[in-house]
Amino acid sequence: MHDSFPTTARIAGLGCYLPERVLSNHDLERMVDTSDEWITTRTGIKERHVVADDEGLVELVERAGHDAMADAGVEPGDVDLFILATATVEQPIPASSAIVQPRLGVTNAACFDLSAACSGFVYALNVARQFIATGEAKTVLVVGAECLTRYTNWTDRATCVLFGDGAGAVVLEPAEAGDGILQIDWETDGSYADLISMPGGGCRVPPHSREAIDQGLPFIQMRGNETFKVAVRALADISQRVLDSAGVTVDDIDLFIPHQANIRIINAVGSRLGLNGDKVFTNVDRVGNTSAASIPLAMCDAIEQGRMKRGDLVLLTAFGGGLTCGSALVRY
Ligand code: ACO
Repeated sequence: MHDSFPTTARIAGLGCYLPERVLSNHDLERMVDTSDEWITTRTGIKERHVVADDEGLVELVERAGHDAMADAGVEPGDVDLFILATATVEQPIPASSAIVQPRLGVTNAACFDLSAACSGFVYALNVARQFIATGEAKTVLVVGAECLTRYTNWTDRATCVLFGDGAGAVVLEPAEAGDGILQIDWETDGSYADLISMPGGGCRVPPHSREAIDQGLPFIQMRGNETFKVAVRALADISQRVLDSAGVTVDDIDLFIPHQANIRIINAVGSRLGLNGDKVFTNVDRVGNTSAASIPLAMCDAIEQGRMKRGDLVLLTAFGGGLTCGSALVRY
């Protein structure tokens, strides 16, 4: 991590989209051997949004991206870099960012996908900030979007109750030091790569192979209990490191927006950091785990509920498959 930059990046606009279809815990009770009571007490999730049959990733990205550009007051043609953080691509080739580029109208932007699972949005913020700080880009569109329900094994009760679909987007522009992204950090520990994975569907086990289909490999798998423990430690550690590097304490921050995977993880991280409950934002109850879309979706909800406003000091921290971890301290 670098200590200071001549300029940094500020969030000039924010946009979000959730598919209309809602899947409740009671709906899931009719699909697998589970209960609203189990899901609520173990995860905090009550419902999640699911794409319609004729929707894919690009529809979600398009809606959130347009909203963010409108909120920032920028024209699509002004965007010179577009980063799409996702683990659930529209198709393997070409990049989903390229597929959605014409729909967004960001035709002057270089586009690429970024794969860091649930940390994807924070990773993309870090990449965007670097391009802005060096002057390589002036207007960057960052979208975190997931269509996780298309990669979910609907017969596996341990995972199918967790995930939801959605997209959140920000437009980043240059800012003076003291505004926007004040401090950011990221890390990866590939020794935990098998905790959250989709072992089939890539070149090792091609999606059309008999092995992939028979063993149900092209679906998300998770060793939830082990992931839980690593997640709490990693989220708290990287959050504290970012606060320390910025020379601030938890008392200085207005709102903590962690990745929304599980209310018990969020509460455990909040108490490790010594944060009051009212400074910890959660919306996992109504969206579930939306991976790379989780943090920008929570930011939209926080604004709508009057919990986050311009000038607030906000800590965004994510954790996900990889294992990846990222945290950003932002003057919104
Ligand atoms: N309904 C009812 N029972 C269930 C369900 C279900 N949906 N799922 C599992 N169970 C059962 C298990 O079979 C087990 O039964 P047993 O004791 O008879 O064997 C029991 O419940 C306990 O299972 P655990 O897996 O130990 O439950 P746990 O309390 O750990 O909760 C959970 C599971 C919610 C997955 C939790 O471990 C978790 O949230 N983990 C972290 C997830 C996470 O943070 N992911 C981050 C990134 S995701 C990404 O990157 C895409």
